Amino acid sequence: MKIAVLAGDGIGPEIVAQATKVLRVLAKDGLKLEMEEAPFGGAGFDASGDPLPAASLKLAKEADAVLCGAVGGPKYDALPRAQRPEQGILRIRKELGLFANLRPAIMYPELVGASSLKPEVVSGLDIMIIRELTGDIYFGEPRGRRDNARGEREGFDSMHYAESEIRRIAEVGFLTAMKRGKKLCSVDKENVLETSRFWREIVIDVAKKYPQVALSHMYVDNAAMQLVRNPKQFDVIVTGNMFGDILSDEASMLTGSIGMLPSASLDANSKGLYEPSHGSAPDIAGKGIANPLATILSSAMMLRYTFNQDEWAYRIEAAVKSALAQGLRTADIYEAGTKKVGTQEMGDAVVAAL
Ligand code: IPM
Ligand code: MG
Repeated sequence: MKIAVLAGDGIGPEIVAQATKVLRVLAKDGLKLEMEEAPFGGAGFDASGDPLPAASLKLAKEADAVLCGAVGGPKYDALPRAQRPEQGILRIRKELGLFANLRPAIMYPELVGASSLKPEVVSGLDIMIIRELTGDIYFGEPRGRRDNARGEREGFDSMHYAESEIRRIAEVGFLTAMKRGKKLCSVDKENVLETSRFWREIVIDVAKKYPQVALSHMYVDNAAMQLVRNPKQFDVIVTGNMFGDILSDEASMLTGSIGMLPSASLDANSKGLYEPSHGSAPDIAGKGIANPLATILSSAMMLRYTFNQDEWAYRIEAAVKSALAQGLRTADIYEAGTKKVGTQEMGDAVVAAL
């Protein structure tokens, strides 16, 4: 198993170091893997003037899976769009055809008190958000600036979804629901957007193949509200790139901290890029206090989805639970009565539990 490691910026290198430490422990225990690092995001720009340097892309293409930290930071905010770190992640998703983004939002019993919502609303929560990742207004052309008919300057983007793009992500939604609670909610804005009307039509058509799955539809504004009102009504959510970006951040916060949530971005053959759902957190970068668990759990997702090594994935997840059960908490999930630890100590605790 060949893994390209793209740590990126901000807290990226710190949290990725903990995940690779965990993977190396498993390697000693018999898991056959190779890891190679390359610059990416702002670090890629610093190294070669490109947020996705050609050599890093080549490494990612040749690898079986990619482990990412996070990209971006204030240092790069003023760069032209093409050179911004965010373009690195958007381009690698596109280049690798990673159209299916899986973002689980799981409530760990130990962390119920860390959520900003009432315990009865969030305890036992287990949602899977499936976000389409290579289409929509994120990539639509034309886009840019122009003078409009009234001679005023305007900015514009284009939202579109091709039938094949909707079909393949809907399939992922139904297949995922089949393995879970058999409930799929497709989120759109069908009351306003043509793209969404088409999206809904295609999802309904795909549903014919999956009569065992209870399909529902929800407008994105309502979904945003329902997620904080009664999140346990959801099992699997499938939605477009832009709505999924927003709803997955919201869903992650139900669980207390976005620092806990992993993600997988898969192509049609289950090759994947694995990264925490959170960003590069420049405000705490270098302080050794970031939560490495989302990245460690992302490596577990990698073992499960790309390498079909469920057993090893389970071992990592159990080790994370054990670290939490011992009362260890990074700052983002700290509560009175628990023990505050830094990034490295948390990684060490997971390794010890393994
Ligand atoms: C995410 C991030 C990215 C996105 C940014 C960094 C481009 O917010 O992975 O959710 O919008 O997709
Ligand atoms: Mg986002």
